[in-house]
Amino acid sequence: MSKNVIFIGFMGCGKSTVGKALAKALKTNFLDTDELIKQRLGKEIREIFAEFGEDFFRKEEQKIAQELKCLNGVVIATGGGFYKALQRDENSLIIYLKANFEFLHNRLGKKGFAKRPLFKDKEKARKLFEERFMEYEKKAHLIINVEGKTPKKLVAELIKELG
Ligand code: S3P
Repeated sequence: MSKNVIFIGFMGCGKSTVGKALAKALKTNFLDTDELIKQRLGKEIREIFAEFGEDFFRKEEQKIAQELKCLNGVVIATGGGFYKALQRDENSLIIYLKANFEFLHNRLGKKGFAKRPLFKDKEKARKLFEERFMEYEKKAHLIINVEGKTPKKLVAELIKELG
Protein backbone atom coordinates (compact mmCIF):
# COMPACT_ATOMS: atom_id res chain seq x y z
CA MET A 1 0.00 0.00 0.00
CA SER A 2 1.74 3.16 -1.12
CA LYS A 3 -0.99 5.69 -0.31
CA ASN A 4 -1.50 7.07 3.17
CA VAL A 5 -4.78 5.98 4.73
CA ILE A 6 -6.22 8.96 6.61
CA PHE A 7 -9.12 8.67 9.04
CA ILE A 8 -11.41 11.63 9.50
CA GLY A 9 -14.64 12.04 11.48
CA PHE A 10 -16.20 13.59 14.52
CA MET A 11 -14.84 13.21 18.06
CA GLY A 12 -15.47 9.75 19.45
CA CYS A 13 -15.82 7.90 16.13
CA GLY A 14 -12.72 5.77 16.81
CA LYS A 15 -10.15 7.25 14.42
CA SER A 16 -7.22 6.50 16.73
CA THR A 17 -8.38 3.06 17.89
CA VAL A 18 -9.31 1.83 14.43
CA GLY A 19 -6.27 3.50 12.84
CA LYS A 20 -3.88 1.84 15.26
CA ALA A 21 -5.53 -1.56 14.76
CA LEU A 22 -5.48 -1.21 10.96
CA ALA A 23 -1.80 -0.21 10.94
CA LYS A 24 -1.01 -3.27 13.06
CA ALA A 25 -2.97 -5.56 10.74
CA LEU A 26 -1.25 -4.08 7.67
CA LYS A 27 2.13 -4.11 9.44
CA THR A 28 2.68 -0.48 8.62
CA ASN A 29 3.37 2.72 10.54
CA PHE A 30 0.75 4.64 12.44
CA LEU A 31 0.62 8.36 13.15
CA ASP A 32 -1.89 10.34 15.22
CA THR A 33 -1.99 14.07 14.43
CA ASP A 34 -3.26 15.04 17.91
CA GLU A 35 -0.47 13.01 19.54
CA LEU A 36 2.07 14.71 17.28
CA ILE A 37 0.83 18.18 18.27
CA LYS A 38 0.85 17.19 21.95
CA GLN A 39 4.42 15.90 21.69
CA ARG A 40 5.66 18.96 19.83
CA LEU A 41 4.23 21.36 22.35
CA GLY A 42 4.65 19.16 25.42
CA LYS A 43 1.05 19.86 26.40
CA GLU A 44 -2.37 18.24 26.42
CA ILE A 45 -4.89 19.35 23.76
CA ARG A 46 -7.08 21.06 26.39
CA GLU A 47 -4.02 23.01 27.62
CA ILE A 48 -3.12 24.07 24.07
CA PHE A 49 -6.68 25.33 23.50
CA ALA A 50 -6.73 27.13 26.87
CA GLU A 51 -3.28 28.71 26.59
CA PHE A 52 -2.95 29.47 22.88
CA GLY A 53 -6.50 29.25 21.51
CA GLU A 54 -8.17 27.23 18.78
CA ASP A 55 -6.68 29.22 15.86
CA PHE A 56 -3.18 28.34 17.03
CA PHE A 57 -4.14 24.65 17.21
CA ARG A 58 -5.60 24.80 13.68
CA LYS A 59 -2.32 26.27 12.37
CA GLU A 60 -0.44 23.34 13.90
CA GLU A 61 -2.86 21.03 12.08
CA GLN A 62 -2.21 22.85 8.81
CA LYS A 63 1.56 22.40 9.23
CA ILE A 64 1.08 18.69 9.79
CA ALA A 65 -1.23 18.39 6.77
CA GLN A 66 1.64 19.73 4.64
CA GLU A 67 4.14 17.34 6.22
CA LEU A 68 1.91 14.33 5.54
CA LYS A 69 2.42 14.85 1.81
CA CYS A 70 5.99 13.56 2.23
CA LEU A 71 4.85 10.25 3.74
CA ASN A 72 3.82 7.02 2.05
CA GLY A 73 1.93 3.98 3.25
CA VAL A 74 1.21 5.36 6.71
CA VAL A 75 -2.11 4.97 8.54
CA ILE A 76 -3.03 8.34 10.02
CA ALA A 77 -5.64 9.22 12.65
CA THR A 78 -6.60 12.88 12.74
CA GLY A 79 -8.41 15.20 15.13
CA GLY A 80 -12.08 15.92 14.40
CA GLY A 81 -11.33 19.30 12.77
CA PHE A 82 -8.28 18.21 10.78
CA TYR A 83 -10.34 17.52 7.64
CA LYS A 84 -10.32 21.29 6.97
CA ALA A 85 -6.55 21.29 6.54
CA LEU A 86 -6.62 18.15 4.44
CA GLN A 87 -6.60 18.14 0.67
CA ARG A 88 -7.64 15.18 -1.42
CA ASP A 89 -4.61 14.12 -3.41
CA GLU A 90 -3.27 11.05 -5.19
CA ASN A 91 -1.14 10.17 -2.21
CA SER A 92 -4.01 9.61 0.20
CA LEU A 93 -7.10 7.57 0.77
CA ILE A 94 -9.39 9.47 3.11
CA ILE A 95 -11.82 7.41 5.16
CA TYR A 96 -14.71 8.93 7.11
CA LEU A 97 -15.73 6.94 10.17
CA LYS A 98 -19.39 7.80 10.38
CA ALA A 99 -21.80 7.69 13.34
CA ASN A 100 -24.71 9.75 14.58
CA PHE A 101 -24.26 12.43 17.22
CA GLU A 102 -26.01 10.65 20.12
CA PHE A 103 -23.91 7.55 19.56
CA LEU A 104 -20.70 9.58 19.72
CA HIS A 105 -21.88 11.51 22.76
CA ASN A 106 -22.74 8.32 24.64
CA ARG A 107 -19.51 6.66 23.70
CA LEU A 108 -17.27 9.50 24.86
CA GLY A 109 -18.78 9.97 28.31
CA LYS A 110 -17.37 12.30 30.98
CA LYS A 111 -13.76 11.18 30.58
CA GLY A 112 -13.96 11.80 26.85
CA PHE A 113 -15.53 15.25 27.27
CA ALA A 114 -12.84 16.33 29.77
CA LYS A 115 -10.09 15.85 27.17
CA ARG A 116 -12.01 17.61 24.42
CA PRO A 117 -12.52 21.38 24.70
CA LEU A 118 -15.08 21.33 21.87
CA PHE A 119 -17.21 18.68 23.55
CA LYS A 120 -17.67 20.42 26.88
CA ASP A 121 -21.13 21.66 25.98
CA LYS A 122 -23.40 19.06 24.38
CA GLU A 123 -25.52 21.50 22.38
CA LYS A 124 -22.47 23.34 21.02
CA ALA A 125 -20.94 20.00 20.07
CA ARG A 126 -24.16 18.97 18.33
CA LYS A 127 -24.10 22.20 16.31
CA LEU A 128 -20.50 21.56 15.31
CA PHE A 129 -21.44 18.02 14.28
CA GLU A 130 -24.28 19.37 12.16
CA GLU A 131 -21.96 21.88 10.50
CA ARG A 132 -19.39 19.22 9.75
CA PHE A 133 -20.95 15.91 8.78
CA MET A 134 -21.54 16.83 5.13
CA GLU A 135 -18.01 18.17 4.91
CA TYR A 136 -16.61 14.85 6.14
CA GLU A 137 -18.66 13.06 3.51
CA LYS A 138 -17.45 15.38 0.76
CA LYS A 139 -13.80 15.03 1.75
CA ALA A 140 -13.82 11.23 2.04
CA HIS A 141 -13.02 8.66 -0.63
CA LEU A 142 -14.69 6.04 1.52
CA ILE A 143 -17.41 6.23 4.19
CA ILE A 144 -17.64 3.52 6.83
CA ASN A 145 -20.46 3.34 9.36
CA VAL A 146 -19.00 2.47 12.76
CA GLU A 147 -22.12 2.08 14.90
CA GLY A 148 -22.40 -1.29 16.59
CA LYS A 149 -19.11 -2.55 15.16
CA THR A 150 -16.03 -3.58 17.13
CA PRO A 151 -12.59 -2.31 16.06
CA LYS A 152 -11.82 -5.87 14.93
CA LYS A 153 -14.88 -5.97 12.70
CA LEU A 154 -14.06 -2.53 11.30
CA VAL A 155 -10.50 -3.57 10.50
CA ALA A 156 -11.79 -6.64 8.64
CA GLU A 157 -14.24 -4.44 6.71
CA LEU A 158 -11.51 -1.94 5.88
CA ILE A 159 -9.06 -4.58 4.69
CA LYS A 160 -11.74 -5.91 2.36
CA GLU A 161 -12.43 -2.39 1.04
CA LEU A 162 -8.72 -1.65 0.58
CA GLY A 163 -8.36 -4.83 -1.44
C1 S3P B 1 -11.24 18.41 17.75
C2 S3P B 1 -11.13 17.06 17.97
C3 S3P B 1 -10.11 16.47 18.85
C4 S3P B 1 -8.90 17.40 18.96
C5 S3P B 1 -9.34 18.78 19.36
C6 S3P B 1 -10.31 19.40 18.36
C7 S3P B 1 -12.29 18.92 16.82
O1 S3P B 1 -9.67 15.21 18.36
O2 S3P B 1 -8.21 17.47 17.74
O3 S3P B 1 -9.92 18.68 20.64
O4 S3P B 1 -12.19 20.07 16.35
O5 S3P B 1 -13.23 18.15 16.54
P1 S3P B 1 -10.58 13.86 18.39
O6 S3P B 1 -11.47 13.91 17.18
O7 S3P B 1 -9.57 12.77 18.30
O8 S3P B 1 -11.34 13.85 19.65
